[in-house]
Amino acid sequence: LAESTVSITVVGASGDLAKKKIFPALFALFYEDYLPKHFTVFGYARSKLTDEELRDTIGQTLTCRVNKRENCGDKMEQFLKRCFYHSGQYGSEVDFCKLDEKLKEKEEGKIPNRLFYLSIPPNIFVDVVRGASRSASSPNGWTRFIVEKPFGRDSESSSELTRCLKMYLAEDQIFRIDHYLGKELVENLSVLRFSNLVFEPLWSRNYIRNVQLIFSEDFGTEGRGGYFDHYGIIRDIMQNHLLQILALFAMETPVSLDAEDIRNEKVKVLRSMRVLKLDDVVVGQYKGHTKGGKSYPAYTDDPTVPKGSVTPTFAAAALFIDNARWDGVPFLMKAGKALYRRGAEIRVQFRHVPGNLYKGKFGTDLDKATNELVIRVQPDEAIYLKINNKIPGLGMRLDSSNLNLHYSERYSREIPDAYERLLLDAIEGERRLFIRSDELDAAWAIFSPLLRELEEKRVAPELYPYGSRGPVGAHYLAAKYNVRWGDLT
Ligand code: BG6
Repeated sequence: LAESTVSITVVGASGDLAKKKIFPALFALFYEDYLPKHFTVFGYARSKLTDEELRDTIGQTLTCRVNKRENCGDKMEQFLKRCFYHSGQYGSEVDFCKLDEKLKEKEEGKIPNRLFYLSIPPNIFVDVVRGASRSASSPNGWTRFIVEKPFGRDSESSSELTRCLKMYLAEDQIFRIDHYLGKELVENLSVLRFSNLVFEPLWSRNYIRNVQLIFSEDFGTEGRGGYFDHYGIIRDIMQNHLLQILALFAMETPVSLDAEDIRNEKVKVLRSMRVLKLDDVVVGQYKGHTKGGKSYPAYTDDPTVPKGSVTPTFAAAALFIDNARWDGVPFLMKAGKALYRRGAEIRVQFRHVPGNLYKGKFGTDLDKATNELVIRVQPDEAIYLKINNKIPGLGMRLDSSNLNLHYSERYSREIPDAYERLLLDAIEGERRLFIRSDELDAAWAIFSPLLRELEEKRVAPELYPYGSRGPVGAHYLAAKYNVRWGDLT
């Protein structure tokens, strides 16, 4: 039986994502013996570098997660020896032919499998896919392409991108990454729901009052203003990362854990969602602020951002799923940059206990203290359930306390980076955590009309100071649906 080999070509090897995430994730997989026995990594970009120069650059960012082990240095060297560089133009089939020759040389007659990671701006996706698929596809193994958002700016441009990619690739060769799906607690959502009796029966409008999906960063667009201004926070975070979490959270039970069964359910729930209206959205933009003698810039101070830009760096939205399970339950999303802290959480607020015997007595406002399940995706991963509890003692007083699963206390294993999970899945052909094209269409359908309206009307964002909790408008929006935002914990 002929042996096989996997070549991973990172197109856009000199970019930030490649250096910070992709090469380190590949190294971590290698370190933990997850990569196949025979593999090579190629960096592909325009600049002229030697293999050694590539190794030097990526060597600096190959953080060893388990760096206490002595052989880390050795492992790094072994890994770097398998890394090579090829300089080429992104749209040049000739350059991809030359890459093909180099790949063949390294593959030494084994069955070649080839994975291309497109870590490049979206306007050159199609050129690269054309060149690489025509000139550097595997002759008798598999060829796969990982692409990363932005997948267009709206329904039309996204469909056009899909149409172009499909001129060269079959859908099962395209691995659309949403790195939030590779995060440990997001992957765990389905375990939590479907393998615990105590959650799934409560998972509906009968017991859940509202669901909050919160993303917050404590830094601005620093250096990425040019990219960001073209997209804004709704496209950058909500339409993908938060919506993907929502779909996993709210989908019906899939027939099995197969990728197609899971993705069928995600598409169904996304298609049941109401198209988002301007009335249900608040947009904000951070302004400069001085705190403790330090001054923080406004979004529009970024030299790569056009003066007078109205691109939102913050948004809050109320979304609804018009199906039997979720009818009338607000799914509130909030995403912002330059806020008071960094974190991502899913908060599930349950309804009141009907006829609660303890209501209005014993020191607790049971109108506020309903049960709440919090899934802290990051940082400091945790799942906890707020319950009402008797404070120990002879008197009868209640408080709200947490049943707490704190990952760093419970598990000694370090949590892998999302890119490790996703790269490994792509190598193994596991598509569960990648976005299918009909899923993408359904996701855009929810947001595209709103995005168009925001742009056509040039809706002015509510300004909020850098490092604050964001625009107050977000509170009014929540109040409209009788909801109070939970505070990041
Ligand atoms: C990216 C966005 O998809 O996710 C960035 O483009 C954002 O703007 C980043 O900073 C957040 O990812 P993480 O994993 O650091 O939460």
